[in-house]
Amino acid sequence: MSASERSSSSLVRRPNVLTGALLTGVRSIDMQHSELFELIEAFESAHAAGDLATAVGTLLPHLEAYVVFHFSEEEQLMSSLVNEASYIQMHLAQHQSFKDSLQRICAGFNVKDDEVIVEELTALLRSWLTQHIATTDMSLGQKLLAQGSHKLWK
Ligand SMILES: [Fe+2]
Ligand SMILES: [Fe+2]
Repeated sequence: MSASERSSSSLVRRPNVLTGALLTGVRSIDMQHSELFELIEAFESAHAAGDLATAVGTLLPHLEAYVVFHFSEEEQLMSSLVNEASYIQMHLAQHQSFKDSLQRICAGFNVKDDEVIVEELTALLRSWLTQHIATTDMSLGQKLLAQGSHKLWK
């Protein structure tokens, strides 16, 4: 590989792991969703390898922080929507409910068996996120693009 090939390949982002059914069409949102699933996988792998220090001590706090960041990014984008007050209210409520569940489960790491919590956590993360992205976030992407948010591609 030449130097120029190396330098250009280093600029290429990791391939998006999401399938078409989970792609909203808004690049920033899709990249963040991809990152979320990668963090979930890293968490599951570290836990499966028995590396609780990494899984619970490092990856989980990072995952929680990234969820908060991602939700606030979407909420910022949806605040630009016109005549969508009830949709925005519903979307915000779903985000808040998920953050509450995540916080409750994570707080349980101090008092419950890790295996039980990890199962509860990964089930919540994977099923909730997949469902939320496929429905509520997909609508957000459609609404943003329909209202002329072409800047989102930059
Ligand atoms: Fe969302
Ligand atoms: Fe999302």
